[in-house]
Amino acid sequence: MCGIVGYIGWRDAAPLVVEGLKRLEYRGYDSFGVATENGEIRVVKRSGRISENGADITALGGTIGIGHTRWATHGVPNDTNAHPHTDCSGRIAVVHNGIIENYAVLKRKLIENGHRFASETDTEVIAHLVEEHHRGDLLAAVTEAVRHLEGSYAILVIAKDDTRIIAARKSSPLVLGIGDGETLCASDITPLLDHTERAVYLEDGDIAALTPARIDVYHDGVAVERAVNHITWSVDDAKKGGFEHYMLKEIYEQPQVFYNTIKALEKDSRLSMLRIPSEITVAACGTSYHASMAFRYLVQEYTTKRLSVELASEFKYYTPPVRDMVIGVTQSGETADTLAAIEAAKARNCPTLAVTNVLGSSITRSADWTVFMCAGPEISVAATKSFTAQLAVFMGMVNVMADGRFTEPLAHAHRSIERVLSTDLEAAVGLLGSATGMFYVGRGVFYPVALEGALKMKEISYIHAEGYAAGELKHGPFALLSTETPVVAICIPGQTYGVMLSNIKEMKARGAPIIGIGVEGDTEVESVVDVFVTVPEDHPMVQAVTVSVVLQLLAYHTANALCRDIDKPRNLAKSVTVE
Ligand code: F6R
Repeated sequence: MCGIVGYIGWRDAAPLVVEGLKRLEYRGYDSFGVATENGEIRVVKRSGRISENGADITALGGTIGIGHTRWATHGVPNDTNAHPHTDCSGRIAVVHNGIIENYAVLKRKLIENGHRFASETDTEVIAHLVEEHHRGDLLAAVTEAVRHLEGSYAILVIAKDDTRIIAARKSSPLVLGIGDGETLCASDITPLLDHTERAVYLEDGDIAALTPARIDVYHDGVAVERAVNHITWSVDDAKKGGFEHYMLKEIYEQPQVFYNTIKALEKDSRLSMLRIPSEITVAACGTSYHASMAFRYLVQEYTTKRLSVELASEFKYYTPPVRDMVIGVTQSGETADTLAAIEAAKARNCPTLAVTNVLGSSITRSADWTVFMCAGPEISVAATKSFTAQLAVFMGMVNVMADGRFTEPLAHAHRSIERVLSTDLEAAVGLLGSATGMFYVGRGVFYPVALEGALKMKEISYIHAEGYAAGELKHGPFALLSTETPVVAICIPGQTYGVMLSNIKEMKARGAPIIGIGVEGDTEVESVVDVFVTVPEDHPMVQAVTVSVVLQLLAYHTANALCRDIDKPRNLAKSVTVE
């Protein structure tokens, strides 16, 4: 996820673009850049945050400008890979949010045609494609160029001596703002709010030519009208996309995150290397550890490999046996214990792989190779979409190890994830409001899902919640069960269904109120629990994701009802860079 901004009007463009980018930093902040048209295309771009390192950009000059704040997906965050990207002659500049899936093929062809590339990004192909098709009319060139693109994009393009910004979008957001003698455009409305209350949302496949006085929108080459909307949001509302908290926004991004991550993995031919090692060790902390535990269940169920999972924070104390590969899993890429585990594996000459969300983070420099999750920046301290992206990575890996057996269910998983976002949890939240302690139980892959559900609940609601493998409750924790200790029990059809159903009845007999999570239409589970919450029937792997999303929502709504500081829970930090 990145943020883009454009301005065309009567004022100096660069300062306005810079201000707009600062508003979009929550979408990405590893590098930034601005280009203006002022008789020539002028570009300034560099790594770092625009809010800390971008003061001088405002002197670029010109009344037409575009800018970008980046969350790297292709190419590490550095000055060269920062946007805008230009063509060979430096006459065309492009900013882009999204992922061009066929960029490698396009790049090869363009190089054959004589184009020289400066960066490792997918975006640079767009600048060269526009150059390739430019016969004096920028709108025509962009229209032709985007025909060749596969993937997602919101792009803004400017060219020397052209008095327009050309904007185009497909599966990435882009909104236009209509001012007085000026037009703005951005990834969301936050940069527009100080300048106008009139916004036009482009639709997928739209291409727009922006001038200070007008917006002309085309779809399939035909001029179309798009409605002008009245904006009523404050800046803070807008940053959160209208959601009350970042956590809820990030939960809602999960269908897209899962889809993007699976798509990116499909294109990653290096993953076939995972067929080689027969014994893999995974090291991680917190939520990443829970995702890794789910990975272990999947690997053991669907492949012949052996996979063990270790708490990275304990890794060095008992030096677990490592053989063919050690995988360090960390959203931030900066967790000290996970970095130490990778170093320990390297010291024992074991090949290492990082799974992370942050390009250029410490773990990417330390591990032999890296697989990225496509979650985009996660602002809320509680991990949600990064957990789902980790599950997507692991499921994609299992799919490779199992020779593509799961391609079909994984390709459609985002639809089930989308459906559970509207789950009604009022009754479940009502049951938890006065709880001081609670349990989450599951079996098989739903055991780590239960652990993660409990972690989410405790960290944002401050209700003491413990996750257990359902069979373990009898070995001690049963003593705690009473009418005051609600239990969230995951009971999904499959190998563990019958025994889970018995466990639910046993817990119920001890007086514990039960929130049962099962599949739609399961009257058997419904009849034995106090509140029944459903997920759609789907492949068991997908259900591990949909149940996790429901548990995130349960934690969120419970914490919200208790008026907790959801995005910044007490005593916690987003990345733990000390042991
Ligand atoms: C919980 C949470 C933490 C992190 C843990 C590891 O919501 O976010 O438990 O999962 O601190 O962080 P990373 O994945 O950055 O190594």
